[in-house]
Amino acid sequence: MPYRMSQEGESDEPVSASRVLGEFATAAGLGTTLAAFPREGSLAARLRENPLLMAPMAGVSDAAYRMMMRSGGAALAYSEMVSVAGLHFGSDKTWELVVPKDPEPDIAVQLFGSDPAQFREAAAAVSERLGNRLVLIDINMACPVPKVVKNGAGSALLDEPEHAGRIVRACLAGLEDVGSHVSVTVKIRRGRRMGEEVAPEFARAMADVGAAAVAVHGRFANQLYHGESDWGVVERVVQAVDVPVIGSGDVTSFSAAQDMRARTGCAAVMVARGSYGNPWVFSGAEPTVEQRLSAFACHVHLLEATGAHLARARSLAGWYLRGMPHAAYWRNQAMSCHTVGDYLAMADALMERGASEMMPT
Ligand SMILES: Cc1cc2nc3c(=O)[nH]c(=O)nc-3n(C[C@H](O)[C@H](O)[C@H](O)COP(=O)(O)O)c2cc1C
Repeated sequence: MPYRMSQEGESDEPVSASRVLGEFATAAGLGTTLAAFPREGSLAARLRENPLLMAPMAGVSDAAYRMMMRSGGAALAYSEMVSVAGLHFGSDKTWELVVPKDPEPDIAVQLFGSDPAQFREAAAAVSERLGNRLVLIDINMACPVPKVVKNGAGSALLDEPEHAGRIVRACLAGLEDVGSHVSVTVKIRRGRRMGEEVAPEFARAMADVGAAAVAVHGRFANQLYHGESDWGVVERVVQAVDVPVIGSGDVTSFSAAQDMRARTGCAAVMVARGSYGNPWVFSGAEPTVEQRLSAFACHVHLLEATGAHLARARSLAGWYLRGMPHAAYWRNQAMSCHTVGDYLAMADALMERGASEMMPT
């Protein structure tokens, strides 16, 4: 049973995430320790050291996911987007999204909402709670989900640059309230509606009020996640502002990340869907089937170690097994997995079948 922890069953103590990485990361071709984001220097200089970032993804980028991607080489990983109203009401579930879990060295926290007063309070509270594990606070001005937009949050802010500016200033004020010098950044889209590009001008307005970097996703909000992401807008934003620009959209491989930087002049890039089942996207390594199975097992153990809902393992199975022989059969098997043991047994079965010829029996 190669995918079980070595001392499993010997104690009732949950296995720590550090131990999981210690046991599985090497076999998966990943790092056993997670490097901190550089602490000294300007944000631009710190991004230059390693410009590949793990994007915020609601429902995906939980602690286990962030650890996997950082063990793959991401310089920094963002939280899922976190509601400032949720933090205001002190919901444990919301705080759960914010607080990094050992051995995560640090985190970028993304906030969403529309009330500047709540942003001020949230920025201060997050900084107080996370201390030097908080690298930056990013404000979501990109989310196209109707539930978010109808409350004036996410991409709705692209239509309201003055209000968006008040939110940036409110976050800076909140940080100042608690003596924190953490950067405030914004994440935007090309525009709200197809054909109406606002990103360069909007980015300049945000930089003018103190945003320390701008991340831009080259799709219009009403494209959701469909169609091609326009890298031209990343370049236009680079030309419009003096702060570092982080490009996002269709960075599906290590070489695409290099291409985006070369073509747009952006300071850093964010990998989002390209990281699904692919922590090697941050190093450009080509994993073997054995490494992919080890990474899957590692990720499942990390879900358990971080107290995450195991339902997430189902999509992980699909992602890590993608492109393997008989992947559809194994994805189907994953549908009947309910416990960590079920998923590991599946990984064991895959391994026993021989990595190259994983015939179902
Ligand atoms: C499932 C999912 C959840 C996402 N959640 C967020 C989020 O919470 N905050 C955010 O700024 N962007 C979010 N995004 C957008 C990504 O960060 C990224 O900008 C976008 O997917 C474009 O990159 P890609 O084409 O490489 O996937 C999400 C994307 C996906 C697919």
